[in-house]
Amino acid sequence: MPRFDEGRPEMTLEEFRLLRDHVYAHCGILIHENMKFVMERRLWPRLEALGIQDFGSYHRYLRYDAQRSAELEAAVESLTTHETYFFREPAQLKAFCEELVPILEKRNAHTRRLRLWSAGCSSGEEAYTLAMLLKESGRFDDWDVEVLGTDLSRRVLAVARRAEYGPSALRATPPDLLERYFIPVGVNRVRVRDDVKAWVNFGHHNLSDVAGSQLVPRSDVVFCRNVMIYFDLAARRRVLGVIRDRLCPGGYLLLGHAENLLSLGADFELVHLKGDLVYRRPELPGGEGR
Ligand SMILES: C[S@@+](CC[C@H](N)C(=O)[O-])C[C@H]1O[C@@H](n2cnc3c(N)ncnc32)[C@H](O)[C@@H]1O
Repeated sequence: MPRFDEGRPEMTLEEFRLLRDHVYAHCGILIHENMKFVMERRLWPRLEALGIQDFGSYHRYLRYDAQRSAELEAAVESLTTHETYFFREPAQLKAFCEELVPILEKRNAHTRRLRLWSAGCSSGEEAYTLAMLLKESGRFDDWDVEVLGTDLSRRVLAVARRAEYGPSALRATPPDLLERYFIPVGVNRVRVRDDVKAWVNFGHHNLSDVAGSQLVPRSDVVFCRNVMIYFDLAARRRVLGVIRDRLCPGGYLLLGHAENLLSLGADFELVHLKGDLVYRRPELPGGEGR
């Protein structure tokens, strides 16, 4: 099979394993051996940008250079996918609105406070979607509401904070909600309305950073959708421990439709809603701890 990338360094299997292990230790994302060629292609621009001749030297740069943490971010950025859009997985969102929102309103009626966490929020569409749905419900208008969006990538968080989006992000947005919650800002571009933005905050957080997760406030619901699909079992266990710890007792975890906690879920109860399967952190004995 001819190679069309003459002049560019090839990655040896040894180099692949060193780089893969380094990325995995940082954020839990596991890159399979059959993705070696993809990794090579995605990292070439990094070597070119730094004037580095081979992947062994690049690995040493990532481990020892003074700029290593910024470069690790850039490497992970080029290896991860940030695919997302507003109102993604509508069946799950419907179940959230129709079945969980009334429960949350009742449970938190005494505090009138609601906390949602979009963990692995990418460019913010999921977090804003949740805030819009809470507004639509009309139940929380005078409550203290926060939807926190966190991600490993500072680049997508900057997009999230800007809150301006084009057609691809809006492709599943119902027209009436597009009208109600967005303001046109240019050709084919809209901005999320300020009252929705006021309920949403963004922060940088690595879900593999167990100690750092203590800074994440406790939530009533965590959406962690399409994030752990890139993790192996050990990393998933670690992240689920973090999420469980940051959920209020009795709080809910919603995963992406291709994900489940089979063989992992001992710390969560499976809840059969009419429209979806979700997970719940068990209540503490006697209902304490809220
Ligand atoms: C495919 S996007 C999913 C976005 C959104 N949750 C959704 O379902 O539409 C996955 C996001 O997870 C983030 N991510 C991957 N590993 C992470 C980690 N260890 N900690 C935090 N975020 C991570 C990526 O940066 C990316 O933005």
